[in-house]
Amino acid sequence: MSQLTNHQQYQQQINDFLAKQLDNLTVNDEKLLAAMRYGLLIGGKRMRPYLAYITGESLGAEQTDINAIAAALECIHAYSLLHDDLPAMDDDDLRRGKPTCHKAFDEATAILAGDALQTLAFDILANHTFSEKIQPKQIVLIQKLVTASGYQGMCGGQALDLSATGQIIDLAQLEKLHSLKTGALLEACVLMAAECSPQVTTQEKQVFKKYAQLVGLAYQVQDDIIDITSSEEELGKPKGSDLAANKSTYPALLGLQGAQDKAENLFQQALQALSCLPYNTQSLAEFATFIIKRSH
Ligand code: IPE
Ligand code: IPE
Ligand code: MG
Ligand code: MG
Ligand code: MG
Repeated sequence: MSQLTNHQQYQQQINDFLAKQLDNLTVNDEKLLAAMRYGLLIGGKRMRPYLAYITGESLGAEQTDINAIAAALECIHAYSLLHDDLPAMDDDDLRRGKPTCHKAFDEATAILAGDALQTLAFDILANHTFSEKIQPKQIVLIQKLVTASGYQGMCGGQALDLSATGQIIDLAQLEKLHSLKTGALLEACVLMAAECSPQVTTQEKQVFKKYAQLVGLAYQVQDDIIDITSSEEELGKPKGSDLAANKSTYPALLGLQGAQDKAENLFQQALQALSCLPYNTQSLAEFATFIIKRSH
């Protein structure tokens, strides 16, 4: 991740901001709060926050506005992982190099920690003091996060993923599944950050959206590839768990080389989209490169 400009600085910034959100909560149940901390603060590449920060950077948005957006997105992501690892879903024992939340605590606590992180995301967006110009758009930001994370986004995609498990589906169905389960949230990182720009036009937002859709899809294609090609040590989660669970993935449908070609093709299209924009999009291009090169 060292090839991503300012990644470490943004990672520190979002970790501090997230820790503060948890510190501000009144303690009701210590075990639940500990599970929320475990799921949110231990490990993670912070790719969604990073994408929101670099989009904001390229569009001249205020970092204090992006902090809240980045935090809300990471809370949704963390919640989705806690639930994704549960026995009722992917039944995984290892995440970010550590026992999954339901292994470190118990299933009921992992479910509740996921629920509470989901609501924390909306708490942050609804209660953050945005800069004056952005305040009228607060509801738009909330709407975008709802769309990205609910039935029309990540949850819908997770349901398609589960129902496609053990089935043969076609490319169009697989693309829809991937775009929803992973793409929607990554798209929201870009679009929510773009909402905080004082200068972006509607037409330019469409180009950012295109870039985000391509990169979001590439992210999940690469996630499927590294499930096969990387080691458990690198991944911090079990290797080959898609294959073992009979998941519908790009490598399963197209073979490993086909999936790699697909990722490369999405990457080229993403770069092409960026080239249409009159902003410094160097970091966004680097991000797209990182996505298809990453091994964890
Ligand atoms: C893993 O996400 C699951 C997917 C949606 C592909 P990340 O690869 O971003 O996981 P962390 O947050 O860095 O652990
Ligand atoms: C996870 O996809 C996507 C979400 C949690 C929304 P995967 O099931 O492929 O993620 P990993 O491989 O467990 O990280
Ligand atoms: Mg899954
Ligand atoms: Mg999983
Ligand atoms: Mg996976």
